Amino acid sequence: MKFFIDTANLEQIREAQDLGVLDGVTTNPSLMAKEGIKGKNNILKHYVDICNIVDGDVSAEVIATDFEGMIKEGEELAELHPQIVVKVPMTKEGVKAIKYFTDHGIRTNCTLVFSAGQALLAAKAGATYVSPFIGRLDDISTDGLELISDIRLIYDNYGFETKILAASVRHTMHVINCAKIGADVMTGPLSSIEGLLKHPLTDIGLKQFLDDYKKGN
Ligand code: E4P
Repeated sequence: MKFFIDTANLEQIREAQDLGVLDGVTTNPSLMAKEGIKGKNNILKHYVDICNIVDGDVSAEVIATDFEGMIKEGEELAELHPQIVVKVPMTKEGVKAIKYFTDHGIRTNCTLVFSAGQALLAAKAGATYVSPFIGRLDDISTDGLELISDIRLIYDNYGFETKILAASVRHTMHVINCAKIGADVMTGPLSSIEGLLKHPLTDIGLKQFLDDYKKGN
């Protein structure tokens, strides 16, 4: 399973990249705003900065909600850097735009997916990635992981090549369960990746090894 980091924070992206296990980055307008990135030119520059840090795909989201606007913005984003994947919302106009981008060789990430039916439509339109938001489903007492299983089954039934990008990952158990189900990618905060490192027996064992080494030297 690939690991993407879900942030626009360059320091955290660098930290994850330095760990050597990062495969890509996802952003969204809220994450860009959180970092204080405003204005078209600054936003476009920030995407290029991210691409220059990470070896892998970088999702950049369109703001337009109409077909023509999405195409214009998406083409501009795709031109920025070969690593850019255009993130398009799961709407009627969005599905049309994904189909257009697919036909024109532009890679896409269909975002804001909350049902198996939406995921099926995204795959039919040729999306490179589909992003089911598991954390936000869990937030409303609906099993986000069950959605990942359903999409896995549907895509495998028909050999869809769209990659399942489990999004809105909140913690390490989301990561582990997504890997068990067979999500192709997960995107989450740095804590969901670094949390995988932790085990008290590792700390206790390491301390013991070092103490024993010191005794004999
Ligand atoms: C997906 O690409 C989104 O950026 C993201 O995963 C949303 O996560 P959130 O629900 O934690 O905001």
